[in-house]
Amino acid sequence: MPKKKTAQKKKALWSGRFSTGVDAAVQKFSRSVQFDWRLYRQDIRGSIAHARMLRKIGVLTAGELRSIESGLKQIGKQIDAGKFKWDESLEDVHMNIESALTKLTPAGAKLHTARSRNDQVATDMRLWVKEQIGLMAGNVELLQKTLVVMGSKNMDVCIPGYTHLQRAQPVYLAHHLLAYVEMLERDKGRLADCYKRADVMPLGSGALAGTTIKLDRKFTANELDFAAISQNSLDAVSDRDFMVELAFACSMIMVHLSRLAEDLILWSSSEFDYIRIGDAYTTGSSLMPQKKNPDVAELVRGKSARVIGDVQSLLVLLKGLPMTYNRDLQEDKEQLFDAVDHTSDALVLTAEMLDQTQVKADKCAAAVADPLLFATDIADYFVNKGVAFRHAHEVVGKAVALAEQRKIGLDELTVKDWQELNPVADARIKGCFKLKTAMAKRSITGAPGTKPVRQQLLRWMDSLE
Ligand code: ARG
Repeated sequence: MPKKKTAQKKKALWSGRFSTGVDAAVQKFSRSVQFDWRLYRQDIRGSIAHARMLRKIGVLTAGELRSIESGLKQIGKQIDAGKFKWDESLEDVHMNIESALTKLTPAGAKLHTARSRNDQVATDMRLWVKEQIGLMAGNVELLQKTLVVMGSKNMDVCIPGYTHLQRAQPVYLAHHLLAYVEMLERDKGRLADCYKRADVMPLGSGALAGTTIKLDRKFTANELDFAAISQNSLDAVSDRDFMVELAFACSMIMVHLSRLAEDLILWSSSEFDYIRIGDAYTTGSSLMPQKKNPDVAELVRGKSARVIGDVQSLLVLLKGLPMTYNRDLQEDKEQLFDAVDHTSDALVLTAEMLDQTQVKADKCAAAVADPLLFATDIADYFVNKGVAFRHAHEVVGKAVALAEQRKIGLDELTVKDWQELNPVADARIKGCFKLKTAMAKRSITGAPGTKPVRQQLLRWMDSLE
């Protein structure tokens, strides 16, 4: 973190127009270096590329380029080592680095040729976004792998699947976990989409209207690994849609993680008792000695709120801005940093927590032994005997009521009971309550049956290799 320094009236690098520096309170109000310092690597990289291009078009001599490059690299090393003295009166990361460079070499004063902080900051943010997307996708994949491993370690475990949080039909635990793997795969797709649109270089757009100097923008873009250069200078310095997109991708990830967290919270409760979350990911209560609370999962769920808030802030920030750059845009960074930081942490911690979570196979087996979970299987049984589904549904509904009335399980009704409800019933109806058979029957693509779930586990192991 940059060290605090009292703001003082100091003339800026572009001080020609002004007789005094800005008021101390204004300086404090308007500076961003306390958060945008973290763009220093992107800023230095962008400046080196710009300098090389300036050399190529003859603005810099070979010697000037050399001194600029080595100065910028030296500054980068100082920042890496925490030895750089950030000057808050210099407003932001860009001014701090340029000012330090100019102290190292007089050629530093040429670096800002045909560049504005407006296209500079837009470029820095695009470089940062691209880098973060790569890291984020890696974290998403880490969680996907953890889910697949957990599923395959517990390949035979079935649990009740739920709708309305009511027990519905049996599913493999792996099928439930793989549902999240699917969601996360789409999240990766959203990140990749966002990357494509971030991969356009604004440098050369100047403050808003380009420059009269004949820049070689393609050269700079190539140096910076941008796939394309922006085609409209006004758009390039003023839109932040690529940041909103990343913040949204983060929100969607957080919403998925929040749902997974909610499942884990439920499953770890005494009411469900399907899993035991490792101690390192839970906390005790300061009052109740018996408590073991799933705080990490709860915080993942809780942090989704702030990340969703970050997207809102960014959208509201942009909505009323006249063309082109407006200082409001400085407020974009903290929101995006916040969204990315918390989403990355949540992904990694969720993966680590799942890795330290044990499945209680006996408790799952007890829950999935509920005969009511097979009611739909029995309706299907009648359908296979030629009964219309609506009639079959009614027959089973009546059977459920009958069992309830007799205070017995649905599986305890006799073949005769079933035949009284519909004469096509035979002894094989009892087989419908066998979990193994029931799971084997669910064989179509996408179903939670034995074969498709195994196939899906294999597919994911393969593709996440
Ligand atoms: N710190 C500023 C930001 O983040 C950099 C651009 C400032 N440009 C300007 N014309 N004041 O937006």
